[in-house]
Amino acid sequence: MSHWENPLVMPWDSRLERVAGPAGLVLFGLTGDLSKRKILPAIYDLAHRGLLPPSFTLIGVARPKKGIDDFTKMAEEAIRAGANTGIDERVLAQLMSGFRQVIGDYTSEETFAKLSEELARAETERGTGGNYAFYLAIPPKLFPHVLKELKAAGLDRHEDSGWRRVMIEKPFGHDLASSKELNDVVLDVFEPSEIFRIDHYLGKETVQNILALRFANELYEPLWNNAHIDHVEITMAEDIGVAGRGGYYDGVGAARDVIQNHLLQLLALTAMEEPTAFTPQALRMEKEKVLSATHFIGSVEESSVFAQYDAGWQGGDYVTSFRGEEGIADDSRTDTFAAFRLGINNRRWAGVPFYLRAGKRLGRRVTEIALTFRTPPFQFFSNEAMANVNANTLVIRIQPEEGVTFKFGSKVPGTQTMLRDVTMDFGYGHAFTEYTPEAYERLILDVLMGEEPLFPQQTELELSWALVDQATNYWEHTDREIPQYAPGSWGPQEAHDMLALDGRVWRRP
Ligand code: BG6
Repeated sequence: MSHWENPLVMPWDSRLERVAGPAGLVLFGLTGDLSKRKILPAIYDLAHRGLLPPSFTLIGVARPKKGIDDFTKMAEEAIRAGANTGIDERVLAQLMSGFRQVIGDYTSEETFAKLSEELARAETERGTGGNYAFYLAIPPKLFPHVLKELKAAGLDRHEDSGWRRVMIEKPFGHDLASSKELNDVVLDVFEPSEIFRIDHYLGKETVQNILALRFANELYEPLWNNAHIDHVEITMAEDIGVAGRGGYYDGVGAARDVIQNHLLQLLALTAMEEPTAFTPQALRMEKEKVLSATHFIGSVEESSVFAQYDAGWQGGDYVTSFRGEEGIADDSRTDTFAAFRLGINNRRWAGVPFYLRAGKRLGRRVTEIALTFRTPPFQFFSNEAMANVNANTLVIRIQPEEGVTFKFGSKVPGTQTMLRDVTMDFGYGHAFTEYTPEAYERLILDVLMGEEPLFPQQTELELSWALVDQATNYWEHTDREIPQYAPGSWGPQEAHDMLALDGRVWRRP
């Protein structure tokens, strides 16, 4: 039992670095894009920072793949290319000495028999203590096969004290119904406390800082409601296209890929009530409450926009349209941009719209939460003096240039009375000298340590799916053409029209 469950156990000293105990990680999907770009480098960075035990064993599982005959070399190259903390040859050699591979089909018993042998061997040779986390960084359609085989091979349990945990990458299903089915499959093999669903946004420092900003300070919370806030915009913009992930992305789209998880989690953290304690249960309870109060304003038809990027010039390059990308059907209706106009039915937020938008091939890569305040109820400065002053805005910059900016009006120095917007800026890069860990580092370490607060629970996912399903059902069945937008723009005209319904315009991040 961890201290999260038992209040009588003292929490760790939060000033100390947390180091994982003896354990191994079994990575399904070793050759996948996510493993290469994020997971393998994050494991190395953890090792480099001294946060993994010397016995740490990484067991990569992959299907045979054309063009790769040396999986150890592939893993090492991915680490060299993606590590954030610089390569220390001794650390890398130590980590790779604990690397094992199991190559085979995910549906074959033989693969799991080999895996079983490797786990037993690592236990005696390296002292993993029988503690293993299974990381499913594979397409969701393979989850049931892998889970079934893990169970059949008896790998989901350890007869002595060793723990078993499973890490599941999003998407957790394709819609509400399939998410429930998937959950049943996982629950058939693992206990709820052994299941860690990864939403990598929750591993980002800037996302965790939302809680610190709101609840560790006195300044914000009294203003954090419909008496003072006019509207909230949550933006996740990427300047890249589907970037070779067409096979995954077609039929998924922006709403399922990032709104269902990342953006609705950001909304929950921004809008939820203060949890009674910093425990997984208390956090979960508040997130569930606020998500269950969240709804489309009016009809989903007028409060959601799906769109696709067209061909055109972006920066100095002529880029292809989404439908022209490799692996995408000419008549695909998959959204590469989605925008929602949401409301929250509670006393704190009634009447405050939450505008969410996410898209590929937009103006620039930026994720932010912008809270725009109401204007003062009375103004004695003249309209002329106030001409260059807009409403106060607090922007939580999730990435890049991580930080918080507050925009407010200030008098321009001089003999006349003129005001202008100025900003107060907090930037992580200036305020802290500490290393900022990548989201995956934090999440992998938390799983190895059995710490749960940063992992969304099934109920939160189901509430998010219920909302996203309304939009996907509408856009997948309507006769309306799916709007197109120019690459490098801020989305289709329809997204601007949606805000115009409320007399507002989107921020230019
Ligand atoms: C992933 C999505 O969850 O997040 C990708 O599947 C997206 O489509 C990625 O590109 C963006 O992550 P980040 O951390 O760069 O904002």
